[in-house]
Amino acid sequence: MKFDGINEKTLVLIKPDSVQRGLVGEILRRFETKGLKVVGLKLMRLDEAVLREHYAHIAEKPFYPSVEKFMMSSPVAVVCLEGRECVDAVRLMMGPTKSRIAPPGSIRGDLAMGYGCNVIHGSDSVENAKLEVARFFKPEEIIEYDKSEYLHVYSEDERE
Ligand code: TYD
Ligand code: MG
Repeated sequence: MKFDGINEKTLVLIKPDSVQRGLVGEILRRFETKGLKVVGLKLMRLDEAVLREHYAHIAEKPFYPSVEKFMMSSPVAVVCLEGRECVDAVRLMMGPTKSRIAPPGSIRGDLAMGYGCNVIHGSDSVENAKLEVARFFKPEEIIEYDKSEYLHVYSEDERE
């Protein structure tokens, strides 16, 4: 499935380096001014079990222990964003994994230098976004509401 309409959701983790460097507000501001809707928001401490599940695709890599240690070094801010094609929009806003080659204007490009310390996680597909939202949020923690701003964020045919 390419996209899920105007209610498409994605999962963002604002990583320990952002929390420690005081970048949570800056990163949230970028999503808000883009026109994305915040439908879930909290702080969490991650443990080995949830990280092993979340990072299953890199769990056997030599750098995994350092990723795990980093992701447990401080709380993270967990965010669920909503919008039309928001999974792809957020990935574009983040920039590539290795921050020091991420283009200026992207979140990693503007705010980070690290590979592991790359300030943010965002789901990489609509399918994974569904699994990740369910991994980090209870259903009742996702708050559905109307945003009046949508009248000026999307044209009528894009609001379906
Ligand atoms: P990955 O899912 O490939 O990147 P992304 O976060 O851009 O979706 O990898 C997960 C995290 O693992 C990545 O954000 C940072 C860390 N990582 C390294 O530290 N070194 C590496 O070589 C790679 C590929 C990832
Ligand atoms: Mg990834």
